Amino acid sequence: MTERTPEATKQQHLKMVREAWDLYHPDYMQFHLKARPDFHTFFRNGGVHIDRTTIELVGNVEGLRLLDVCCAGDATQAFSWENLGASVVACDLSPKAIEIAKDNARVIGSSVEFIVADAQQLAPIPDEQFDVAFTVLASLIGTADGR
Ligand SMILES: C[S@@+](CC[C@H](N)C(=O)[O-])C[C@H]1O[C@@H](n2cnc3c(N)ncnc32)[C@H](O)[C@@H]1O
Repeated sequence: MTERTPEATKQQHLKMVREAWDLYHPDYMQFHLKARPDFHTFFRNGGVHIDRTTIELVGNVEGLRLLDVCCAGDATQAFSWENLGASVVACDLSPKAIEIAKDNARVIGSSVEFIVADAQQLAPIPDEQFDVAFTVLASLIGTADGR
């Protein structure tokens, strides 16, 4: 039996993780649309769906370049940061998530730039381009104030 190098094993794991998330994302987006049928109009009208504590912690993002890592297809935080005045680049390991996010951006009329990238490397995103790097594990329901 041929032994895998540590790098080959790592790449194999990453491929499995990516494929699993690719399968998950279409349903994840449907979940969001079910929970918030006004999803697109909410963000088109300037909506923000991030809890107050997080917003306070990050501070005023107006005019800042913000990188949102692990954005998912709904890209709830990426669209929210944009509505709070940031210029946003958002990335995810899953090409399916990025495809869904780009579709959402088109419907919303958002300028967020979506890129497929592994959070461990962030390639092909260039270094030294951002004022804020952000990531969170939240869910649509119960994470933003009053929603
Ligand atoms: C539970 S979701 C969180 C999404 C969003 N940040 C939120 O809190 O609503 C986790 C996301 O991380 C992405 N992900 C998993 N491993 C990743 C990695 N190594 N690099 C970048 N994204 C990754 C998944 O595709 C998924 O979109």
